[in-house]
Amino acid sequence: MDHFLYRNGILHAEDVPVTRIAAEVGTPFYVYSTATLTRHYRVFEEALSGLPHLICYAMKANSNLAVLKVLADLGAGMDVVSGGEYKRARAVGVPGDKIVFSGVGKTPAEMRLALEGGIRQFNVESEPELELLSVVASKAGIEAPITIRVNPDVDAKTHAKIATGKSENKFGIPIARAREVYARAAALPGLRVVGVDVHIGSQLTDLDPYRSAFLKVADLTRELRSDGHDIARVDLGGGLGIPYMSTNEAPPLPSDYGKIVHETVGDLGAEIEIEPGRLIAGNAGLLVSEVLFVKNGEDRDFLILDAAMNDLIRPAMYDAHHDIIPVVEPVPGEDPHVYDVVGPVCESGDTFAKRRVMPVMGAGEMVAFRSAGAYGAVMASEYNSRPLIPEVLVQGDQFAVVRARPTFDEMLSRDTIPSWLE
Ligand code: LLP
Repeated sequence: MDHFLYRNGILHAEDVPVTRIAAEVGTPFYVYSTATLTRHYRVFEEALSGLPHLICYAMKANSNLAVLKVLADLGAGMDVVSGGEYKRARAVGVPGDKIVFSGVGKTPAEMRLALEGGIRQFNVESEPELELLSVVASKAGIEAPITIRVNPDVDAKTHAKIATGKSENKFGIPIARAREVYARAAALPGLRVVGVDVHIGSQLTDLDPYRSAFLKVADLTRELRSDGHDIARVDLGGGLGIPYMSTNEAPPLPSDYGKIVHETVGDLGAEIEIEPGRLIAGNAGLLVSEVLFVKNGEDRDFLILDAAMNDLIRPAMYDAHHDIIPVVEPVPGEDPHVYDVVGPVCESGDTFAKRRVMPVMGAGEMVAFRSAGAYGAVMASEYNSRPLIPEVLVQGDQFAVVRARPTFDEMLSRDTIPSWLE
């Protein structure tokens, strides 16, 4: 069920009219639905039911503390990729033994932070990382639980910038070398092998690559066990895609993904971990923006919004499609119009959509970008000195600003002028 629906001609986030939020916080802003976050988390819980498992939400998709708290309260673990993300997980009360630490470039300080604060496992991505972690853990006198991320050389059939499971990508250790690297890990002090890890990419809309990758991981698990390693956990990563285009996209259901998990690794007797990000947060969020101007160009008409590429970079960066809908429901039967939808930033890349068929819009009217809950706010910047935009969480008929818009003074106060310039 979609929790962003028109009621009485106005787009609502759950029971709250989007216009009411706009009146209070001003545009542009992100708004997230608690009911949608909850539903998506539960869908994964159901998909993996019958298997011992832990859903570690990949907070890189949306790491607002309020969003994390919703998920933590449901029992979610977290997948973190930096010291900052680790701190966020702990700040909302996620215990260390539910936090997995991924990423190709962990620093010694990040390793120490997680070791001292408590960690379920480090997903180690290279031999130099293994060596470093061994040194850091030994020095700290705390054993580091580890998995090794293997690269199964599977084509995830997704956008090149978010595919990670091919041998040409920087991620993981080639699966063919895994036994050798596990032997090294077992010999190093300060490390304890607890499982194996894989993640092949993001926004996967086909389940076949998962099947291939998980089968390879299942075979590897048996081999590693026969080599004497205690592979008690299998981390399958994240990546399940979502529909960005309401009209013609039908990505696989989490329940079908769950079936593949059961079929491929279900008989290993291992605890299954998954790291979904986008599927949990993506369709739980909107970016709401106001039309500043309608500019009639020679060749085409432009909708110039008050949101820009610094607020939502996905179209500029990945040519991503986001549905853009008016906040006031269009009158049925009215002729649509074709627009290029753009932001105010001074470069042509600041284009959200080209030749988009939309209802006729006027200055002062609002639009909402759908599927903006994942990789939206977290990838925002202050480019053009545009302050980060607020984030709002809705639950039923309540809403709260969960990150306020900084003032210009706050933004400027982070810079300092050195004494020799004063
Ligand atoms: N686990 C690992 C190790 C990952 O690298 C990622 C995503 C995930 C889990 C979560 O994947 P998800 O379930 O969200 O697909 N900024 C890009 C997406 C980058 C994904 C990076 N890694 C975008 O906006 O499409």
